[in-house]
Amino acid sequence: MSQSHLNQIRGSAPLKFLVIGAGSRGNGYAHALLQSTPDAQITAVAEPIEVKRRAFGRQYIWGEADAPAEWQSFADWKDFLGLQEQRQRAARDKASRWSRPVDGVFICTLDDSHCEIITAFAPLGYHIMSEKPLATTLQDCLKIYRSLRPQGSSSSPQIFSIGHVLHYSPHNILLRRLLLDDEAIGDILSVEHTEPVGWWHFAHSYVRGNWRKEASSAPSLLTKSCHDIDLLMWLLCAPPATASITDRPPHLPSFVSSTGSLLYFKPSRKPQSAGGATNCYSCAAEPQCIYSARKIYVRDRFDQGHVGWPVKIVDSEIEDMYVGGNKKGARERLEARLKDDYNESTSSPASRPWYGRCVYNADNDVCDDQVVTINWEDDPLPVTSVQQRQDRLQGRGAKNAIFHMVASTEAQCERRGHISGTRGEIEYDSRTIRVYDFATKRAEVHVPEQPGGGHGGGDAGLVSAFFKAVEAVKLRQMPVEEAQQAYVGCTAEEIVRNTAMVFAAEEARREKKVVDWPAWWQNNVEIALEHQSG
Ligand SMILES: NC(=O)c1ccc[n+]([C@@H]2O[C@H](COP(=O)([O-])OP(=O)(O)OC[C@H]3O[C@@H](n4cnc5c(N)ncnc54)[C@H](O)[C@@H]3O)[C@@H](O)[C@H]2O)c1
Repeated sequence: MSQSHLNQIRGSAPLKFLVIGAGSRGNGYAHALLQSTPDAQITAVAEPIEVKRRAFGRQYIWGEADAPAEWQSFADWKDFLGLQEQRQRAARDKASRWSRPVDGVFICTLDDSHCEIITAFAPLGYHIMSEKPLATTLQDCLKIYRSLRPQGSSSSPQIFSIGHVLHYSPHNILLRRLLLDDEAIGDILSVEHTEPVGWWHFAHSYVRGNWRKEASSAPSLLTKSCHDIDLLMWLLCAPPATASITDRPPHLPSFVSSTGSLLYFKPSRKPQSAGGATNCYSCAAEPQCIYSARKIYVRDRFDQGHVGWPVKIVDSEIEDMYVGGNKKGARERLEARLKDDYNESTSSPASRPWYGRCVYNADNDVCDDQVVTINWEDDPLPVTSVQQRQDRLQGRGAKNAIFHMVASTEAQCERRGHISGTRGEIEYDSRTIRVYDFATKRAEVHVPEQPGGGHGGGDAGLVSAFFKAVEAVKLRQMPVEEAQQAYVGCTAEEIVRNTAMVFAAEEARREKKVVDWPAWWQNNVEIALEHQSG
């Protein structure tokens, strides 16, 4: 269908979106959306920090216009809903028609706010793309699930997508196709998957930054590696395309276990020469320390002209000052921020990041090394045909997956791994996929395209999938469920299940036990959902 035909059907109105949170991800998605889907418009932003809100608005919404229009700029997402309520009331009083100011929302705020925002927007029928993790507690995940399923309904009235960007990179799309559609290595038997977080990246986000402390954030398995647990479930729960089972139910795991701890970023590793220093700018060991904030943020980035992430995370004004020509002021501001430190008299140091803090003497407690093992047992479905009898398992045979999150690596988030199958082996590293065939003794190396943008093209793939799903629903080309499956590629239930697997793994780690997944799911999810709806 041509674009003009689409526009005719849609009344020439492009799809409109609100971005909540104009931080790194809000900007990343806005950029990816406008680059990959010319027919999308971002028409509103909600962001409390004025400088970020204005910069976002100028770049993506109102351009150089002096002031944003009524529906364009909000200091809080609640203000958007407040204005909506006001306008709806006024429309009701005048008996005039009310239509939503946007079609969908991108929720790009920090983790612990996702639940409140999703459950506020879902009942109003907005299509939602929320950043990962879905929520920071299992209870909140269930609240979200219920809000997406109106009372008594088994389906959702809106498209719901989550920032699991790994589903959408060309590399991982090909990996899944090779495993499930082409069955390039036969039945999957065993997976070793590693997430190398990157040595200084881990220190930035999980030792000094927002995600360093379980009590104020969540375990690193959730805040960092929910992507990987989700990826494993996405690859390993789906039966191969050739399985002659009509409704193709997922092959669900039987057991999950996990071990892990904080190995390195703690006082016992602090060099003696650092003495009692808690900030790099007053530390005698700083010249020898690879984690020196002065080296990471100033010498290796700012002084090389890199003022985007992670420098702009230290202070959101530095980039604007630098780009505006005030390089000296920007550098001074960066160093002043890095010198910020806390002591016993500082109230709630956990409420904000401290990017100049000694990495061996911070208040971090999240694991910097963790292993999760997920096991599947043979789970054949009842056979009804001769063909099924010949291949009873149809991709539902026993298999094991081991996931390793490791902080101290050169690679940064470029996942790598090996997958063994009954007829061959796959090796992948986020850039290439090597398939070795046991029968022919030959290897084929695939090099999927590496589009620009975040997460190996995953950001662009995710936003364009969300856009297409919303468009298909708006144009009445497909019902919500079909568009969700066709474009987003997973259901809200799968999103909850894959996030719940992280909570089960954490329970296993904390309590030093093996979790029986079906019983855990029954007790913690199904019974809880029944109680909540009863
Ligand atoms: N998908 C991925 O690969 C990926 C990568 C990094 C981060 N994330 C997730 O994305 C989310 C955002 O992370 P980030 O790095 O962009 O954080 P950020 O701090 O850069 O941005 C969050 C923004 O939300 C704003 N905000 C706070 N309260 C608000 C409110 N009431 N209304 C509107 N905006 C509000 C903040 O001012 C801030 O600008 C987090 O949940 C994070 O875990 C996902």
